[in-house]
Amino acid sequence: MAVTTTDRGSWNSKLGFILAAAGSAVGLGNIWAFPTKVATEGGAAYLLIYLLCTFAIGFPVMAAEITIGRRSGKNPVGAFRAISDNKFFPLVGLWGVVCGVMILSFYTVIAGWAFGFAFEEIFYFFGWSAAADWLTDTGNGLKNAIIAAVFMFGTIKIITGGVSDGIERATKAMMPLLIGIIVIMIVYVLMQPGSSEGVRAYLLPDFSKINAGLIFSAMGQAFFSLSLGMGALITYGSYLNKKENIPQAAAFVTLADVGIAFLAGLLIVPAMYLAQSQGINISAGGSLASSTDLVFQILPALFHTIGGGVGMLLGVTFFLLLSIAALTSTISLLEVPVSYVIDEFGVKRKKAAWSVGGGIFVISALVAFFPVMIGWFDYLFSSIGLPLGGFLICLFVGYFWKTENAINEMEYGFAGIKQTLFVKVWPVFIKYICPAAILYNLITNFI
Ligand code: TRP
Repeated sequence: MAVTTTDRGSWNSKLGFILAAAGSAVGLGNIWAFPTKVATEGGAAYLLIYLLCTFAIGFPVMAAEITIGRRSGKNPVGAFRAISDNKFFPLVGLWGVVCGVMILSFYTVIAGWAFGFAFEEIFYFFGWSAAADWLTDTGNGLKNAIIAAVFMFGTIKIITGGVSDGIERATKAMMPLLIGIIVIMIVYVLMQPGSSEGVRAYLLPDFSKINAGLIFSAMGQAFFSLSLGMGALITYGSYLNKKENIPQAAAFVTLADVGIAFLAGLLIVPAMYLAQSQGINISAGGSLASSTDLVFQILPALFHTIGGGVGMLLGVTFFLLLSIAALTSTISLLEVPVSYVIDEFGVKRKKAAWSVGGGIFVISALVAFFPVMIGWFDYLFSSIGLPLGGFLICLFVGYFWKTENAINEMEYGFAGIKQTLFVKVWPVFIKYICPAAILYNLITNFI
């Protein structure tokens, strides 16, 4: 069906794509999920396997997704259909749309918690403990639903406007500021006696902790954090100019994502040990519902021990930045089903955004009242769904579309690509290493 160019849209600038893709990557996955998983699932051993998954599996798959998107100029379902006649792969795209919907449904609830904590810091400062306690109660369904609704509303508003200069500019200012605050907090934590044990736990791997479960978890985390495996980067790539250098853009986004996750871990893990040494009870359970509280317990405790106006200011700024980081991620999650509806059913962008976003909110409201569902959805759609999607994307590019054709597409923005090492190495990863590693991890996790 014909679609007007204004409804599809494209990036204004080269930087626009990189910022949007980095904004999609950097989010709650880096600052909330990653440090919690490191702390509860093996410390430095987890970090090591995570880095391996990111660079050896995530980066090649990211280049593949962006290339599929730019070649086809379509949403994930339309993209597979446009490139090959194979009837199976559009279903892979549809699975990606489903994963996006389901991940977004719980993501808004957690994002709402982060947003609520920004205000908690203010209420705490002024001694309004009833209001502060209300906001920190992650089990309060109505409160969860209200804040999630606010978050979904903001996401829809931005999606209806397309990618404006406003978001591009906001993202540009946000990243350095977020890094700045995290670094200040790291310096503060590392200066306290009692944190060094945490640094050791974070950086000195105990190899005996590596097992199939840890690798499976780290792989899922890598996919989630890079926003891979469900076509978000196919969609973003579809708005991309031919002049863009895809491997370079993918490398930049990967490094930004890993860098922020690494810093967040360096903050939270030592802070957790510090809190323990001070006798603060940290109930880091194995299940996501209880580990949801880990970061949300430790950080406010830290801001409160710094105390006074400084503690409050750091706290408010941090949680506001985290909320913005989450917002640039929810945008990419919603953009996938919205672009699908626009492309495949010829619906106008505005109508598509409101109906799809509203529909997803119905699921969010359910999650808000039963946060235990976060764990189930995360397991099914992030830990299993995304690597599975990544596996199928590798098969598609490696054996159906063929890596030579993908490289021809990359050549538009990277004239010398055929003389580089990338051309020799990337196809080996896409055809053999990535799919084999993903499949092996998925299977060993179940046996
Ligand atoms: N990467 C984001 C984070 O780390 C979450 C996210 C945004 C995502 N868009 C995605 C995950 C698409 C998978 C697919 O918080």
